[in-house]
Order: sequence, then C-alpha cells, then structure tokens
Amino acid sequence: MFGMKAMRRASPVLLFLLAALFCFATYNILAMMRHNRAIRNFVGANTRSVLESDPIVEMPEHVKKPKHVKSPFHIALTATAAPYSKWQCRIMYYWYKQKKDLPGSDMGGFTRILHSGSPDNLMDEIPTMVVDPLPAGLDRGYVVLNRPWAFVQWLEKAAIEEEYILMAEPDHIFIRPLPNLAHERFPAAFPFFYIKPEQNEKIVRKFYPEEHGPVTNIDPIGNSPVIIRKDLLGKIAPTWMNVSLRMKQDPETDKTFGWVLEMYAYAVASALHGVQHILRKDFMLQPPWDLETGKRFIIHYTYGCDYNLKGELTYGKIGEWRFDKRSHLRGPPPRNLSLPPPGVPESVVTLVKMVNEATANIPNWDTS
Ligand SMILES: *[C@@H]1O[C@H](CO)[C@@H](O)[C@H](O)[C@H]1NC(C)=O
Ligand SMILES: *[C@@H]1O[C@H](CO)[C@@H](O)[C@H](O)[C@H]1NC(C)=O
Repeated sequence: MFGMKAMRRASPVLLFLLAALFCFATYNILAMMRHNRAIRNFVGANTRSVLESDPIVEMPEHVKKPKHVKSPFHIALTATAAPYSKWQCRIMYYWYKQKKDLPGSDMGGFTRILHSGSPDNLMDEIPTMVVDPLPAGLDRGYVVLNRPWAFVQWLEKAAIEEEYILMAEPDHIFIRPLPNLAHERFPAAFPFFYIKPEQNEKIVRKFYPEEHGPVTNIDPIGNSPVIIRKDLLGKIAPTWMNVSLRMKQDPETDKTFGWVLEMYAYAVASALHGVQHILRKDFMLQPPWDLETGKRFIIHYTYGCDYNLKGELTYGKIGEWRFDKRSHLRGPPPRNLSLPPPGVPESVVTLVKMVNEATANIPNWDTS
C-alpha cells in the first residue's frame, strides 16, 4: 500500500529523471559524432568489451555494410627470400587457396611482395612481385622497415583489380573465409594490446604534432592485419615510410619502440591522414594466449607454444612439447609435426594440424 503510493508520488520525478538522462545520452552521442570520433567511440572503445559476442553490433547503422555488396580485397603479403620467410609464405598461400572460394569470403587475388630485390625459387608456386629493398644501411638492421617501401613500390607498379587490400604477414593462417571487414573510408584493423600511443605521448608527439589533435586519434594497431581501400593506402604508405625512417633515426624513439617501431609508424601515419580504423578483435587470434579459434579469421603464430606433457603452458621455458616458428629459422619444419599432448588448448592443436595439412599437401615441401 505504502509502496504503491510512494511510487505514484515518485513517478513524475522519475519521469523527469529519465527524460533528463535521455537528453544527456543523446547529447553525448551527438557530441561524439561531431567530434568525428564516432567510429572509434562506437566501435573502438566498446569493442574491447563486447567484441567477443557480436563484433559489429556497436557500429552505427550507416556503417554496417549491406550484405549483398561484394567488395573483394587483394591479399598482399610482404616477404623476403630467407628460408624462414619462404616456408611460412607457402603455408600462408596454401590456406588462402583453401578458404578463398568458400561462402562468406571476399578474398580476391594474392601477391607476395618480395622485397629482396631479386626472384627466388617460389615464383611459380606463389604469385609474386619483386620490389627493391631499401638502400643498404637505411634499415639499420631492422628488416621490417622494408615493408612500407615495398608497399609504396607495389602500389605504384602493380595493376591491382580489387578496390581493397589486406596487408598480411607470412605467419598468418586463414582459418575461415575472410570477409571484407573494412567499410569505405574506414579500414579494419586488429587492436594490439601492446601498442599504446597515449602512454608514449612524449615520443609520439615528435611525429604527430598537436595541431593534428589528441594522441588518442592514433589507433592501437600495426599495418597488419589491415583491410584498407587502395586509395587510402596509397596516401598512407609514403607517410608510413617517412615516419618509420624518422622514428628509426631518432635514438629515443628507436630504443622505446624497439621491434614494434614500424607498427607505431603505421598507426601514426594513418592518423596523420585522418584515417580511423574499425578495430576488430575477431580479425585474428594469437596462440598460446588465445585458447580457442572460435569465430576468428586468422591464426597469427608469432609466439612460441611451449607445454609440458601434462598440457601446461611453460611459456618462456622450452617445453617438452613445443611449436615455435623460430625453431625453423634455416629451413622448413618437417612434415607431420607431433600433435600436442592432451590438455593443450584447441587454438594450438588447430595451428599444428593446419601446418601439418599444408606441409602434407605442398609438393616438394622439404626440398626448398
Ligand atoms: C619526411 O618528410 C619530411 C617532411 O615532409 C621531410 O622533411 C623529410 O625529409 C622526410 N624524411 C624522409 C626520411 O624521407
Ligand atoms: C604422422 O606421425 C604419426 C606419429 O606421430 C604417425 O602415426 C603417422 O602415421 C604419421 N603420418 C604420416 C602421414 O606420416
């Protein structure tokens, strides 16, 4: 009785509060849109928590791609002629061919951009364009600085049919047919937890001056995996090259960023062009940290997977069972690698099975 009465008395107040809240929320949303950060705020920030369930649920309606529009992307794989790069490229290309024509795929043509300056023995196996490496000494021993230069040359020379490009790396394996996750002027990228522009403001500001806006404009990404419209990449790539060389030449930046310098360079270069990425956590997974392949698209096997025979991760300590790409710097891993012991996560088991399936089916696997 008392409850009902109190509520009836309270309801106008409640209504007022609700209305006020609604106005406040609307105002906030409008403010965000005006700030030209709509994508980042809807997709970027929020995706970190909601992505696992429905990666695109938070996208503004106008950004959701109409389902019927096919927009194929070209797969561009930067590589060297080192044995270590070659065997990974062969596995990568094998799985591209397996997934390319499956339903849901927007995967188009494929080019290995070989930035060693001369052809190698995989020219007939994998569609390849040879480009020049940086002039001797310019990369200061940091070979991935060749990547931006490779993209600049490729975009200039190649006749690319597709309007979009996926920048991929040799240690990527397609586990599902990959749709075009980009949308018009918004490329799609994988957010890396260790790329933190805000926490490196002092350094980032050397390359991203204040007049361009807050450092939060810089996405926590590298150049790969990214699906991006060709014309946007055409603008970003020369800047990316310029920024990466300047970062490498600056001792403080070089020391702080280390092996992720070239990722920061891409993130900064794209922000300098006002390009914001749709951040897609489901773009890829990284064993052994991600335990299940789930609905993700690419396995990135950059981390070593070390386990004891009880199936427990012994990361950083050589495991009784292990798969680590770095165990095979000088040549390909053998066919038919032993599967991990029971208890090892599904992501790692899938990785090894897919490597085995590829090596079993690639002719002359052991000979190159
Ligand atoms: C990068 O661009 C700046 C400004 O446009 C220019 O002054 C500089 O020489 C370029 N640096 C390199 C390494 O290309
Ligand atoms: C792969 O190795 C397993 C033992 O680890 C063996 O039982 C199997 O026959 C091998 N398969 C092939 C195709 O060589």
